[in-house]
Amino acid sequence: MIILGINAYHANASAAIVADGRLLAAVEEERLNRVKYAAGLPARAIQYCLDQAGVKLAEVDHIAIPRDPRARLATKLRFAMRMPRFAFERARVMARFAGIREDLASAFEIAPQSIRAKFNRIEHHTAHLASAYFVSPYERAAVLSADGLGDFASSMWAVGEGPQMRILGEITFPHSLGMYYTALTQYLGFWKFGDEYKVMGLAAYGQPEFLEEFRRIVRADGPLSFRLGLEYFTHQNQGAEMSWRDASQTPVLGRLFSTYLEKRLGPTRKAEEPLEQRHHNLAASMQAALEEVLAAHWAALAKKTGEKSLCLAGGVAFNCLANGKIFDHSPFERVYVQPAAGDAGLSVGAAFAVEHQILGRPREFVMEHAGWGPEFSQQQIRAAIAGSSNGDMQLTELDEDSLVQATARHIAAGKIVGWFQGRVEWGPRALGQRSILADPRRAEMKDVLNQRIKHREIFRPFAPSIIEEAVPEYFERSDPSPFMTFAYSVRPEKRGVIPAPTHVDGTARLQTVNRGANPLYWKLLRAVGDLTGVPVVLNTSFNDNEPIVCRPEEALDCFRRTQMDVLVMGNFTLEKKAALAAGAMSAEGFAEPLK
Ligand SMILES: [Fe+2]
Repeated sequence: MIILGINAYHANASAAIVADGRLLAAVEEERLNRVKYAAGLPARAIQYCLDQAGVKLAEVDHIAIPRDPRARLATKLRFAMRMPRFAFERARVMARFAGIREDLASAFEIAPQSIRAKFNRIEHHTAHLASAYFVSPYERAAVLSADGLGDFASSMWAVGEGPQMRILGEITFPHSLGMYYTALTQYLGFWKFGDEYKVMGLAAYGQPEFLEEFRRIVRADGPLSFRLGLEYFTHQNQGAEMSWRDASQTPVLGRLFSTYLEKRLGPTRKAEEPLEQRHHNLAASMQAALEEVLAAHWAALAKKTGEKSLCLAGGVAFNCLANGKIFDHSPFERVYVQPAAGDAGLSVGAAFAVEHQILGRPREFVMEHAGWGPEFSQQQIRAAIAGSSNGDMQLTELDEDSLVQATARHIAAGKIVGWFQGRVEWGPRALGQRSILADPRRAEMKDVLNQRIKHREIFRPFAPSIIEEAVPEYFERSDPSPFMTFAYSVRPEKRGVIPAPTHVDGTARLQTVNRGANPLYWKLLRAVGDLTGVPVVLNTSFNDNEPIVCRPEEALDCFRRTQMDVLVMGNFTLEKKAALAAGAMSAEGFAEPLK
């Protein structure tokens, strides 16, 4: 039984393939076509998934699409009469879905009738819920999806038991936590698609002095219910202007906040204007109001279901600050967030919804790691290096133990290391397969990384990876966070030990590394710990204002273009001869081990 899940004609286009109940592959189109948040039909991702399953498109049994035009039809029609322009645009998108068989046939150069798969339409939030619960380690759980808008709903909750989920409730358009966060992100001067996490980082610098006003913008208005103050927004009258018609462009979202919001909160910050304390306080207030609503929601969901385990999905599930507080605000004892909690994850969710909800097959799979994308053999890596070499690199091939030891020594010596190993991560976080690693003990490392490689806003924190065994020693909570979806407080006595990835509020968005799930990365962290006494690395994504690198060629290109010191790719280490000769590292004071 082969099920192909496709998130198409929507930002974060992706594909996933499930064979006999087990996930074989999942990847976002952006990793392959190199367009950030790419929309359109994810033809490259689909091809990769088919290759991993060893099948052709014509041999797939089910195709799962996380969109259902019939869902909430009456609500859609009611708003369509009020917002004809928005309705027209949504109708265009829906028309694309209706023609997906033809689009697939055209992309794969086969006759439409040769695709014998049954097409299954899974409602957007049902697919989100499925993406979390069906791959979670729990036999039963409460499940919550919250994001911007999908199939005219913004949030849905359910209880899962074995291979079935029972939907318990939903919040429909125009009330949306995702829209709330995006609108305020725009107001604070961040207009790029996907900028919300920047504002989450900014919140730590402020105090929630505008919380009363924000409680008018969003508030819980009963158990499992929240409302937006609609006068602060425009989408309820004008719709949300979205541009993501094809895969060649990063999506663009139009303005979502009203002039009334500006009247109440003051002038909109222009993107080029400096960030002031007022902006920090606005970000902190926005985060605090969101957390109040979520806390009420978690508590009510726990009460309604009586469950001790919670699975989260939707873009709001990336709010690691809020997620880190679930245990304090609800009786939930375990929380699972799938690494691609946002819309990319819909392909996995739709596929598993077909497997279990529709076909009734038993659950056999738990997503314990994020390595579901392409990988490259030592021969392919060797060929890529040979193809790009002009004699400017010092190349060394090592066995695994020596490679780990050499990499740990580089990190401990303050070098910035590109780490390219195994299968590309599923979801937006680098988790030890396509990562840039550095020494977390050096407070200045954050600025050095920004100057030399990442070129991003200085207020954004970097994250630590830590072996699971050491979490209680460094953090005030030790619940697993394998996919960097929780922020916990660093123990006060350890904040000076790992200053680089500790945020200004004393939290860190940690990745806990399990030896069984990610053995090579765990081994590296253990080796770093043996050398330095601190089994932690600073881990940031392997890219520079581009999608995370996928192929060896992209890693080599990023390595050359930036001032990264070492590239460890497969069993090879590469160093720039010019840097070695010039002793460039010592010029920045990083050649010596920390005392
Ligand atoms: Fe969504």
